[in-house]
Amino acid sequence: MTLDAVLSRIDEDLPQATDRLIQLLKIQSISTDPAYKAECDRAADWLVEDLRSLGVDAGKRATPGHPMVVGHHGGEGRHLMFYGHYDVQPVDPLNLWDRDPFDPQIEDTPNGKVIRGRGASDDKGQLMTFVEACRAWKAVHGTLPGHLTFFFEGEEESGSPSLVPFLKENADELRADVALICDTGLFGDDTPAIVTMLRGLLGEELTITGPSKDLHSGLYGGPSINPVRVLSRIIAGLHDDTGRITVPGFYDGVPELPGQLRSQWDNLNFDHSAFLGGVGLSTPAGEQDRTPLEMLWSRPTCEVNGIWGGYQGDGFKTVLPAQAHAKISFRLVGTQDPHEIRKNFRKMVEDQLPPDCSVEWKAHGASPASQMSIENPAFDLARHALSPEWPKPAAYIGGGGSIPIAGYFKSILDTDSMLIGFAKADDQIHSPNEKYDLSSFHRGIRSWARVLDALTR
Ligand code: BES
Ligand code: ZN
Repeated sequence: MTLDAVLSRIDEDLPQATDRLIQLLKIQSISTDPAYKAECDRAADWLVEDLRSLGVDAGKRATPGHPMVVGHHGGEGRHLMFYGHYDVQPVDPLNLWDRDPFDPQIEDTPNGKVIRGRGASDDKGQLMTFVEACRAWKAVHGTLPGHLTFFFEGEEESGSPSLVPFLKENADELRADVALICDTGLFGDDTPAIVTMLRGLLGEELTITGPSKDLHSGLYGGPSINPVRVLSRIIAGLHDDTGRITVPGFYDGVPELPGQLRSQWDNLNFDHSAFLGGVGLSTPAGEQDRTPLEMLWSRPTCEVNGIWGGYQGDGFKTVLPAQAHAKISFRLVGTQDPHEIRKNFRKMVEDQLPPDCSVEWKAHGASPASQMSIENPAFDLARHALSPEWPKPAAYIGGGGSIPIAGYFKSILDTDSMLIGFAKADDQIHSPNEKYDLSSFHRGIRSWARVLDALTR
């Protein structure tokens, strides 16, 4: 059977596939930091070359931000698009890494071999699982499976500012029957997952200003308002005692979990003590009347991602700072409208400002939650195709993170997305010492070969 030949080819070629991934991981494609612009470009070039080596008609496409990579391969049957992102998160705090984040290596760990480096899991390693499956397919069949479009983005980790205009301008070229996205995780080490819903994300940055300059806290403390105190009080009021978010209208569009989905999730037997225990926690801290899986997958949140102001250096300084800053994000579900929430949040903050204080805003990304169309026949085909590869059958799960493109594929291209990924909960994505298990990479490649076989028959 030719699928077996493709799988054997994947097994034989794993060392070379790993070397290729290591090359890509050496490119410092941090999208959010303008200092790495040339590196983002270099990652795009690398991918264009790699796709061309597979016979794909690929090119780098300029945007006002980092380039997109688009490649086409003509063929019969279902038109499949594959999406991944080549950009990575910043590496700070660098001192917590055990190795140079851009000098990736295979490491032996008590849980097996891992590829360690920034982007190993999110998303270069995952992106390459699909490309490597295609490479093995080509080695066996002499051509790629069916009608394929490759679409790689370089701005996913910084809110995808160029994505919507690019999709609109190139809709006819990119529209497909199904978009395959490899940017999510396994449900458990033995259980592959197809993510059926993802949360949206809204980002806000604010600066509260009080006095016109930093002041001596002995000379001015008392009569002068302190913006750090004002900001802390506002932030402390964003949740009530039960964990509910207090922004007016925030819960508009938040649906109750349908009973059928609740029982399906109950059947997953998610071990929330192990989940929290893995990061040194024991008690779910979200809305108190919800289960941990609900908190993660089907409930919205408000998080303070950063807060700063005043003296941060060694020692002590009796200062009364002129400004206080925070970065705040909201994960969104259902039909919550990010723009409406931005408006209501800003008004809520402005209404609480005491005399002499003002606020300045910087808007970050705003994307709604997305719901996949699991009635698309590709879902069932993929679920069955994954079975022989993994000890346990594939689970339909929710996803707490955000991949704005999944929703835009539907709303702009009318293309359904199917999210299958092989990251593990302990991959430390966005954190120091990010890694991708060699077993995730290997089985991920094999999984795509099986899914491609099932979808292109
Ligand atoms: N790959 C993640 C999202 C993810 C991880 C979804 C695990 C489901 C399970 C993605 O690269 C990511 O981190 N996205 C950002 C969004 C962005 C707009 C910065 C996120 O979710 O914070
Ligand atoms: Zn990602």
